Amino acid sequence: MIVLETKELTKQFGGLTAVNAVSMHINEGDIVGLIGPNGAGKTTLVNAMAGLNPPTSGQVFIFGENTTGKTPEKMCRRGLSRTFQIPVPFPKMTVLENVMTATIFGNRPGTIRDPAAHSRQMLEFVDFPIAEDTISEQLNTVQLKRLDLARALASGPKLLFLDELASGLSEGELKDMITLIFKIRDQGITILMIEHIMQLIMNLCNRLVCIQFGTKIAEGTTEEVANDPAVTKAYLGDAALDCAPDAQQPA
Ligand SMILES: Nc1ncnc2c1ncn2[C@@H]1O[C@H](COP(=O)(O)OP(=O)(O)O)[C@@H](O)[C@H]1O
Ligand SMILES: [Mg+2]
Repeated sequence: MIVLETKELTKQFGGLTAVNAVSMHINEGDIVGLIGPNGAGKTTLVNAMAGLNPPTSGQVFIFGENTTGKTPEKMCRRGLSRTFQIPVPFPKMTVLENVMTATIFGNRPGTIRDPAAHSRQMLEFVDFPIAEDTISEQLNTVQLKRLDLARALASGPKLLFLDELASGLSEGELKDMITLIFKIRDQGITILMIEHIMQLIMNLCNRLVCIQFGTKIAEGTTEEVANDPAVTKAYLGDAALDCAPDAQQPA
C-alpha cells in the first residue's frame, strides 16, 4: 500500500525553485532515505509534504487523501508526524511538559486518559537519558533530538518524517539510533528520513530518493541508488566519476 505520494511537487521562494516537480512515493513499512547534497531542497520538500510550507504547485496524497496545503495540525490528526533538523522545544518547560503538550494537542480529545503516563512511555521508548523534570533549554543536541522524537511519537503517527535525526551523534550513539529507528518501524510506523550519514542510510533504508538542485535524480532500492553514477556525481562532483575503475583508461 502506498502511504505517501507526491505528484510534480514544486516549491518556489521568489525566483528560487527549491523543489522542482518532484514525484515520489513511500510504501507502507518502508524506511525511505531522502538524500542529496546540502541545499538540495530536502527539508523544503518535507515541509511541503508536511504542510509546514505549502507547495507552489503539485499535489501530496497521504493515505490516499489529497492533503496538499493542509496545515500540520490537520496532517497530525491524519497520522503524520515529524522531527525537525533543529529541534525547538518550549524552552522554559520541562522535558515531560513538552511531551505532554504534544500528547494533549496531538491526539483527539479524550483519547489519552493519562497524558503524563503516556508521555512518560514515549520518553522511555526513546531511552531519554536524563530526568524528565529537566528544563528543556538545558538540553544538549543529542538530548534535544531524543526529546523531539518522543514529542513526534506522542501523537501516535502512522507516518514519521525524520530530518537529520542522527547528526552530531558519536559512533556508539549512532548504533543506538539505528536500533531505535528499527524499533519505531516495528511499531507499524512508516519512515521517511533525511540523512547524510552513510552508515545509517545503508543499515536502515530499504529505498532511497536522491535530489539535487530541487530535482529528483534517482529513486529505487538502496543498492540501486547508492550505486547510481548520477548520485555519486551529485555528492562528489565530476572527480568521483574520473576515479571510477571503468573510467581509468590506459594513457
Ligand atoms: N524559507 C526560505 N526562504 C528562501 N529560501 C529558502 C527557504 N528555505 C530554504 N530555502 C532555500 O531553498 C534551498 C533548499 O534548502 P533546504 O530545503 O534547506 O535544503 P536541504 O535540506 O537539502 O539542505 C536552499 O537554496 C535554501 O537556501
Ligand atoms: Mg535540510
